[in-house]
Amino acid sequence: MMDRVIIFDTTLRDGEQAAGGALNIHEKLEIAKQLEDLGVDVIEAGFPSSSPGDFEAVSLVAREVRAPVVCALARAHPDDIDSAWEALKKAGQPRIHVFLSASDIHLTYQLKKSREQVLRTARDMVARAKRYTGDIEFSPMDASRTDREYLYQIVAAVIDAGATTVNIPDTVGYAIPGEFGGLIEGIFKNVPNISRAVISVHCHNDLGLAVANSLEAVRRGARQVECTVNGIGERAGNASLEEVVMAVKTRKDFFHLSTGVNTERIYRSSRLVSEMTGFPVQPNKAIVGANAFRHESGIHQDGVIKMPITYEIIDPRTVGIPASSLVLGKLSGRHAFRERLAELGYSLSDDDLSHAFGVFKELADKKKEVTDRDIEFIIAQELRTASEAYHLDCVQVSCGDKGIPTASVRLIGPDGQVLADAALGAGPVDAVYRAINRLVGVSNLLTEFSVKSVTGGIDAIGEVLIRIESDGVTYTGRGGDTDIIVASAKAYMNALNRLLAAKKAAK
Ligand code: KIV
Ligand code: ZN
Repeated sequence: MMDRVIIFDTTLRDGEQAAGGALNIHEKLEIAKQLEDLGVDVIEAGFPSSSPGDFEAVSLVAREVRAPVVCALARAHPDDIDSAWEALKKAGQPRIHVFLSASDIHLTYQLKKSREQVLRTARDMVARAKRYTGDIEFSPMDASRTDREYLYQIVAAVIDAGATTVNIPDTVGYAIPGEFGGLIEGIFKNVPNISRAVISVHCHNDLGLAVANSLEAVRRGARQVECTVNGIGERAGNASLEEVVMAVKTRKDFFHLSTGVNTERIYRSSRLVSEMTGFPVQPNKAIVGANAFRHESGIHQDGVIKMPITYEIIDPRTVGIPASSLVLGKLSGRHAFRERLAELGYSLSDDDLSHAFGVFKELADKKKEVTDRDIEFIIAQELRTASEAYHLDCVQVSCGDKGIPTASVRLIGPDGQVLADAALGAGPVDAVYRAINRLVGVSNLLTEFSVKSVTGGIDAIGEVLIRIESDGVTYTGRGGDTDIIVASAKAYMNALNRLLAAKKAAK
């Protein structure tokens, strides 16, 4: 059996399914490139038949990313499979991932099909996908709640039809580690042609057990783990990539396995995904949380100073947490800025560097010290605004405890036209949002608004995170500035631009 675990990243597919996590095509490509740099084996780039936007994103990733396998998801339906192939055909290493529910619960209440019908469809659709490419994955959805004997039959049938990877999903996060490991062991013992396929697992985190279940499956012979950066995904999310990878690496003495992940790229990948999706990383999150390597207790600090191994099982540098906390300031030049960016894992084109450097200089004029977090923030904001249809050019408010809050805004529209308007509101942010609405004219509901500071200090960048809803879909927006009204306007423009891009892609 292989002594390497294949890391299948589904941040761009299952991760993006998380409510409010929608990404535009440029953000998807940026993340895909980062995943390539991280060294994942497979990138599941999307579900092409779910929307024209997803189709386009999978095609783009298939064209631009070379080292990993690029995978597209498809229901067990001819049109889905054809569309997955159409999106993938320029990929160096394409994989079609076909899924179909297998549990009696799903068959009875959702598909309204018999076990025989489902078995036949699974076999036929794998055979159809196989006409396009040799690399086929099949997932019997809700496998952890599927009758075992029936599951063995499906697995054997799809391998006969050409599946080279069979993924066992714990779709609803119901499994318990020992039980899930037993399921994997059962598959190895009871499926006669199992040696012709890689067994994969895909665990959801509804009971907080996604990583534990994945690792137990690996212990019992699974050799592909499906996971996402920061564990984002549908509902409570998926198994977290960084936790799975670091558990296998840190406990090599236990697993005797390895992955191809360049762990020093983990921190940067985590930051990028958080910035792009708008999902903050909880401070106590294993491996990438702000407190993951912070020792508060005096006894622990004493131990770590004497010998880190006393209380630290991972050297933070192994996961790419920047060793130096060097700060830049207004006298720092372009060269120092570029060097710091490189240390943080960014390599920008000359044009992008010039623009980012301008933003850095503006910030350095307002803020004494520009930290790594500020720089990460500048770059993420640059990426966010690069593909905007409407760009915020200027915002002015008048407010206070007397008088009516008033805002005037100026936007640059999709064709470069200058648009300006003003509005009154209940408060300054309300007035700004009303003025923007008058210019952009898309109805939506603001469902969440929060402000936090990126770093400490009274001159810190204030970061605004908002969520808006339109036609039942949530769009996240983020914006930052030392002035929180400007930050609020940027966040709103970011969310509105995502909404507009999604509507355009759906046409
Ligand atoms: O959770 C699940 O079952 C899935 C499948 C499509 C693999 O995401
Ligand atoms: Zn899933």
